[in-house]
Amino acid sequence: MSMMQRTQTMEAAGHDVLHLEVGQPSTPAPVAVCDALTRSLSTLSSHGYSVAFGQKILRQRIAAHYQDWYGARPDWENIAITPGSSMGFVIAFLSAFDRGDKIAITTPGYPAYRNIMISLGLEPVLLPARAEQNWIADLDALAETGDLPDGLLLASPANPTGVVMSDAEIKAVCAWCDKHQVRLIMDEIYHGLSFKGPSTSAFVHNKNAIIINSFSKYFCMTGWRLGWMILPDDLRETAERLAQNLYISATTLNQHGAQAAFDCYDELNGHIERYQENRDILLRQLPPEFLGNAAPSDGAFYLYADISALTSDSIVFANRLLEDTGVACTAGVDFDPDEGQKFLRLSYAGSTDDIRNACQRINDWLPRLAKTA
Ligand SMILES: Cc1ncc(COP(=O)(O)O)c(C=O)c1O
Repeated sequence: MSMMQRTQTMEAAGHDVLHLEVGQPSTPAPVAVCDALTRSLSTLSSHGYSVAFGQKILRQRIAAHYQDWYGARPDWENIAITPGSSMGFVIAFLSAFDRGDKIAITTPGYPAYRNIMISLGLEPVLLPARAEQNWIADLDALAETGDLPDGLLLASPANPTGVVMSDAEIKAVCAWCDKHQVRLIMDEIYHGLSFKGPSTSAFVHNKNAIIINSFSKYFCMTGWRLGWMILPDDLRETAERLAQNLYISATTLNQHGAQAAFDCYDELNGHIERYQENRDILLRQLPPEFLGNAAPSDGAFYLYADISALTSDSIVFANRLLEDTGVACTAGVDFDPDEGQKFLRLSYAGSTDDIRNACQRINDWLPRLAKTA
């Protein structure tokens, strides 16, 4: 049974579950975004399709957002609104690669990357990005193998590790891809959620890169299913045809609402302070045997805890933790088929009270676990 089904069953039976397994903000979309959506309901044109790449005005707002945050403005016509970034990956893979092409991704990493690739006949190449690699893929080691992939997909801030690449590291990745003619796909969906300050975008440093982003995480709009991609010139036309055929357009009403998201930085930045406080509580209150050699957790809202001192089976551990304490977490095997048995991902996007309670329950439970192990 999946973790989601287990938590639902427990809640239906009256248990109080603390949701540290969910990869989404616990707060709603900004007030101005909801108001803009409500207003758009009374406009007839909001109820029809938009063009495949999305409303011009929203794409222009996104272009202005890049100017504000990164000091470089993409051509709005190269920006495509997608139904979540999830569909952005499909469009990116289909437009830039051919069946059988290899795309390198880091492990641990977001599992949908490899699942989407396999379903499209592409071959994911897993690059270790664990503690031994300082949690970032070693591209020089990849080049030394002499077997270069056709593409490289990286995320910063990363899921599940919360690792945030420095601007210098991002620039180096962009230069490496240019040098070796490897197409870069940069997943920037957790941009804005960094405790180390703002990051640069790969858009600024590599004109052939495909940039993937979303309204889901920083903007707290997971259920709205809206993402965007910035396409390099050579892929624009193919990507547009694919978008037209695969989904016609992203939801028009939601595109109206999303235009207001770029007026809401103050409200949204308030959530980052809470995430950081939550992260600090976990790091302070969980014992060393539960944290182990955890990844840095400098961004997104994830702590990738090294539980190897407690178990060699993260699925059994996560299930027992849930059953005994009501704290739901995600087993590391979801993100790393080889080493994930030793890790657990804790999402701290919830309320600070939930995080404190989770720490209390885990600390009360660990001595009991030790007795029965
Ligand atoms: C790293 C990463 N990329 C992409 C996604 C997909 O997000 P969405 O389709 O909601 O934009 C997720 C969702 O959790 C994620 O963690």
